[in-house]
Amino acid sequence: MKINLMKMLFAVLIIISVAFASDEHKIISPDGRIMLSFSLREGVPYYEVIYGDEKIIAPSSLGFKFKNQSELSNFSCIDFVTNKFSEVWKPVWGQNKNILNEYNELTFTLEEKVPPSRIIKLIVRVYNDGVAFKYHFNEQKGNNYFEITDEQTYFNFAGNFSAWWIPNDYDSEEYTYRNTNLDKMMGVHTPVTLQTKKGTCVVIHEAELKKYSSMTLERNRSLPNSFQSVLVPWPDGIRVKQTAPFDTPWRVIIITPNAEKLISSNIIINLNPQPADKNFDWIKPGKYVGVWWAMHLNKNSWVTGPKHGATTENVKRYIDFASKNNFDAVLAEGWNKGWEMWGKGNGAFSYTECYPDFDLKELSKYAKSKNISLIGHHETGGDYLNYEKQLDAALKFYKDNGVNIVKTGYAGPIRPDGYHYGQKMIDHYNHVMEKAYEYKIMLDVHEPIKSTGLCRTYPNLMTGEGVRGMEWNAWSVGNPPEHVTVLPFTRGISGPMDYTPGIFDLKYDQYKKDEFVKSTLANQLALYVVLYSPFQMAADLIENYKDNPAFEFIKNVPTDWDTTIALNAVIGDYVVIAREKNGAWYIGAVSDENRREVKIKFDFLEPGNYLMKSYSDGKDAHYISNPYPVIIKEEKISANQEYLIHLAPGGGFACKIGKIN
Ligand code: NOJ
Ligand code: CA
Repeated sequence: MKINLMKMLFAVLIIISVAFASDEHKIISPDGRIMLSFSLREGVPYYEVIYGDEKIIAPSSLGFKFKNQSELSNFSCIDFVTNKFSEVWKPVWGQNKNILNEYNELTFTLEEKVPPSRIIKLIVRVYNDGVAFKYHFNEQKGNNYFEITDEQTYFNFAGNFSAWWIPNDYDSEEYTYRNTNLDKMMGVHTPVTLQTKKGTCVVIHEAELKKYSSMTLERNRSLPNSFQSVLVPWPDGIRVKQTAPFDTPWRVIIITPNAEKLISSNIIINLNPQPADKNFDWIKPGKYVGVWWAMHLNKNSWVTGPKHGATTENVKRYIDFASKNNFDAVLAEGWNKGWEMWGKGNGAFSYTECYPDFDLKELSKYAKSKNISLIGHHETGGDYLNYEKQLDAALKFYKDNGVNIVKTGYAGPIRPDGYHYGQKMIDHYNHVMEKAYEYKIMLDVHEPIKSTGLCRTYPNLMTGEGVRGMEWNAWSVGNPPEHVTVLPFTRGISGPMDYTPGIFDLKYDQYKKDEFVKSTLANQLALYVVLYSPFQMAADLIENYKDNPAFEFIKNVPTDWDTTIALNAVIGDYVVIAREKNGAWYIGAVSDENRREVKIKFDFLEPGNYLMKSYSDGKDAHYISNPYPVIIKEEKISANQEYLIHLAPGGGFACKIGKIN
């Protein structure tokens, strides 16, 4: 009885939609902690976000400017509809077996009080882990074609928060993150991650990016800590060309009490619709090795010739290794004609003609006999039109040869014009995703458009790059140790990441004198748990795994999880993540350039005794001077004990925990 009364009271409180003179409406998260208020001030929509007693977003206005029409103005709210939603759904693959999707929603219909009397809807959702809103352009009485020159979604942050950001280069996200306060932040890509003095974490990102261009943020100089959405333009300067009715992507503000809880946020995938189909037998997460790192080290070449990597013989060697070591797939790059023209002209790549020393038919037969999948490769070099022209033939060619996973790539300027993250390319990336879905082909997209949760609807979109990954260590100053302590809270929030960890020969002096991976070997192991991807590569040359007992961890670690939790983290310093699959737990921890000890509690385990096999930095391990020592140890632990993890500079810790009784 008491409970029912409480419930009723709560239901009334959830959506307090009081129409004040200013048309103010408040919408509260299911747990009551986040509140978004919406109001119209002189016909301009405003929103504000409060988390507990902390203001996150001060009143911020929303609007649009167009090339072919006047800007939106003078709105009145002609209708609003409230909605509550709660479901638990199971992803085809993911970081958690069950995902709670629960929110309160308000849809406002706004009409201009003066001609052209355009009507839009603003759909607002408040979850326990953040807020999201999108604009719906109704079919209008007049002109339905919109050329958006400026989406004016403002984010007036309520303080000079700490921020982790990369610049909004319209062609690349392959940067290390800078950490400054908001007053020093430049134009940035999303996700961008902020932290308040209290430790509250805030991530700005977008979800369900379709038929639109990518959102970046830029400073609004007229107010402190104020940023505005800036959409990546077409070559003619227009940001988005659309015909109503249409929806914009969701503008998302993730809010969690601390960094650890960010790892548990599911709002980005929750904002995407579930797939139309039910049967996804053809989609399987897994681990792969491949003819890849050898090219980045200059040991092999993509181009056919004396150093050619993707030869039938060499790929067979990789298939043998994969089959012996519990891997699922083998990647072969540089198999098709055109690499000699990479970056030099249009129409270079053929996606249906192999180099003469690469026999796809033979290899697919061989791989099948060993129960290994071949991962195909489509590098476009940015020449996306050439790829589109061949897309059907290219996917069919692979499908006919038993290849059901393809890595794509866009390394090079978009030709003939445009940016990687402009509307035309968003359409392209989504077109390839949909086509691959039709062919039942899984994708790993390099130089992709950022993840916005489309993988919920298209679970064949397995993973992607969009990150300064391992390859940078082969041919640049590389990635500082701090990088992997930032990624789970920034790039990682958007979706799976093909970082390609697992380099064991961290110095590779034989191939490159100056470059090296800034990590200890134990750190490389930990990355399989710390950085999430349903496809993970063991990226090193296979000969470098021979006889190394630490390889056992990579062989066994799953890539699809039932439970994921972050145990302890300071963004940019260290992070400890625990994941569980079928009752077995795996922990990964990484440190920045500093040595440190991190205390964790095993209280996430069910009561009982467990056997833990751990891989930690050995004596005097150091990412520059001594990256190789690893201590492999088996010990008994119990669910209620604490444990001290020792991390070397650039170090790591990885373990597997199984129940004894
Ligand atoms: C860049 C990709 O990130 C990398 O994985 C690939 O090997 C090269 N492009 C060549 O396609
Ligand atoms: Ca790349």
